[in-house]
Amino acid sequence: MIAPETIMRVAELMAKAERAAVLTGAGVSAESGVPTFRGKHGFWKDEDVMKLATLQGFLADPKKVWEWYDWRRGQLAEVEPNPGHHALAQWERMVTGRGASYSLITQNIDGLHELAGSKTILELHGNLWYARCLKGCCAELKHIPDTPLPEYPPPCPWCDSILRPHVVWFGEQLDPTVIEESFNVSGAADLMLVVGTSAQVYPAAGLPYITSRAGGKVVEINLEPTELSYTADFALHGKSGEILPQLLEKVRELVG
Ligand SMILES: NC(=O)c1ccc[n+]([C@@H]2O[C@H](COP(=O)([O-])OP(=O)(O)OC[C@H]3O[C@@H](n4cnc5c(N)ncnc54)[C@H](O)[C@@H]3O)[C@@H](O)[C@H]2O)c1
Repeated sequence: MIAPETIMRVAELMAKAERAAVLTGAGVSAESGVPTFRGKHGFWKDEDVMKLATLQGFLADPKKVWEWYDWRRGQLAEVEPNPGHHALAQWERMVTGRGASYSLITQNIDGLHELAGSKTILELHGNLWYARCLKGCCAELKHIPDTPLPEYPPPCPWCDSILRPHVVWFGEQLDPTVIEESFNVSGAADLMLVVGTSAQVYPAAGLPYITSRAGGKVVEINLEPTELSYTADFALHGKSGEILPQLLEKVRELVG
């Protein structure tokens, strides 16, 4: 149980934030039924991560990798955003509605923030619902909402190559445009909410420290303490699907 004064103090920050930022991880989707990375039900089924989530693994067997991604996509097709995703989308509408800025940086690839109505989203690790040309013939992303796909691997619609999932695999660089924008947003933020991330995977884990060093406030919302809990201005422990709606309710009371 989080003290009502703490909820009020964080809500006050949220109500007046001029440059709001949010960083989310797998935990924000846990209450939708999406397994977290390190959770005991695991993200990778019984499969070998190096065969499924590396370029080498994909090149060795694109059909197998696509079948696995389609299995993941099939699971996600059944899943809906939870009250935590919805509360963040509502906060964005409130912040941007009064002319302030808002950006949500996510490590998740599940597309649930978009489905909940969030608009300004920086997806650090890509999105399972998109694919791109393996050869990189163009910068286009192909939206692939259907699952299962009619064929594995799907052909590239723009050249004679095949499509690959639009996700960042182990050993790959993050999209430099997305990471640069995430650094900028973090450095400029006067408030960052850090929701459902174990704060262990860099560079995402470093973003809240950029905000702190630049003088912004950092609020962590996580089921359990993490390394960030020691330096965050507030560390709220519990389910994000319960805490975020509580905070939003208070923000609404404050702004009338
Ligand atoms: N939904 C997804 O798209 C998804 C799922 C699993 C993994 N991943 C990837 O795996 C990597 C793992 O890093 P990570 O930090 O995002 O995940 P992680 O699994 O390392 O950490 C999840 C964190 O969420 C917390 N948590 C769990 N349930 C919660 C809840 N209901 N409310 C609040 N907090 C909760 C846990 O205590 C933990 O600290 C990321 O790079 C991400 O791309 C994505």
